[in-house]
Amino acid sequence: MKNPFKFGTVVDDPFFIDRKKEIEKVTSFLSGENHLVLISPRRMGKSSLIHKAVSSLGRPVIALDMQLMTGPADLAAQMLRRIYRIYPQTRLKQHLKRFRIIPQLSLNPTTGSIDVSFMPGVSSLPILEDVLNLAEKMSTENKKLIIVFDEFQEARRLDENLLSQLRAIMQHHKMINYVFLGSQESLIRDVFQRQKSPFYHFAMVMYLRKIDIGEFSQYLETGFAGIHDEPGRIAGEVLEVTRGHPYYTQQLAFTVWEMAVSGRGQSNKYVEDAVRELIRMHDMDYERIWMSFNGTDRKVLLGLSISEQQPLTAEFMRIWDLNASSTVFSSLKRLMTGGYVIRTDKYELDDPFFSRWIKERRER
Ligand SMILES: Nc1ncnc2c1ncn2[C@@H]1O[C@H](COP(=O)(O)OP(=O)(O)OP(=O)(O)O)[C@@H](O)[C@H]1O
Ligand SMILES: [Mg+2]
Repeated sequence: MKNPFKFGTVVDDPFFIDRKKEIEKVTSFLSGENHLVLISPRRMGKSSLIHKAVSSLGRPVIALDMQLMTGPADLAAQMLRRIYRIYPQTRLKQHLKRFRIIPQLSLNPTTGSIDVSFMPGVSSLPILEDVLNLAEKMSTENKKLIIVFDEFQEARRLDENLLSQLRAIMQHHKMINYVFLGSQESLIRDVFQRQKSPFYHFAMVMYLRKIDIGEFSQYLETGFAGIHDEPGRIAGEVLEVTRGHPYYTQQLAFTVWEMAVSGRGQSNKYVEDAVRELIRMHDMDYERIWMSFNGTDRKVLLGLSISEQQPLTAEFMRIWDLNASSTVFSSLKRLMTGGYVIRTDKYELDDPFFSRWIKERRER
């Protein structure tokens, strides 16, 4: 028997559920000349959604993670490498001759793919321009290229001029749809919604939320049917802990399933045992993270884990002995940038297991 749940990497069928409206929205955006920004906290399913939507379109895709790039020239090299994977070399060669700075290409004997690099120290602007314009030229009307930038807010860190350089090049492109993904909401919004930013209003902004509880519940129930005679109850218990967060729900369901199949845990409290196991597994990380927070951050996290009150309310401030709402506000901002706190219809901890860890330590 194979575990019917999956977490960590991009998921596709049969692990991919719901998101019908979102897929429709993404595909319709990308069928025109629009560009798209997709924003959500970490592991909410951005990559999986884009992968799913784009593969239904059957168009070529180039995906680049800005976190893994070392600078603009590296970005250009990685992009060129991917262009080589998609398009025929004979057509590429003609264009490559006209590059202002000639890239060094080598065949990687282990992967069989082409590795690309540029001489260190050369100016990166003409390289980027030539590579992106090459992508535009290779793209065709009936199979328009889609270029996805993951963690796009990192562009600023790579080079302070990168955003304006990219914008200057991309604005002329008609044969490419650009998709920008970002998990640090305030930073990515700053790129696309601040009037002074070069990317101001360049792309349609879309937010990704948790998965519909009803859809998730059905999926979990089906998965648990093989291991328990009350799959609906187990599904409900899992969702009560994770509240439909895609990653944590899959992770907990995966662990419950493993537990049942391996004979660990007791069948009347699989979910509780699985939560305990996950908390134990992450204990050292949680400890380390907790130690890195300042006093206000800790109070805010404690408040969110233990009480029903929301930060910034008078009651919350009173209980946790906080006197300035501006301090709480900057703490929330910091915790959200770090990905520890997310804002759904309210503020909450991103990781339900970390939340339990905090609560339990307090009550120990
Ligand atoms: N539509 C979905 N149906 C079921 N599970 C999903 C779905 N989308 C995401 N998940 C779960 O969440 C996990 C993370 O998804 P994904 O990597 O797509 O998110 P992400 O937002 O791109 O994350 P990151 O911030 O790390 O880039 C997946 O491994 C899977 O377990
Ligand atoms: Mg991703």
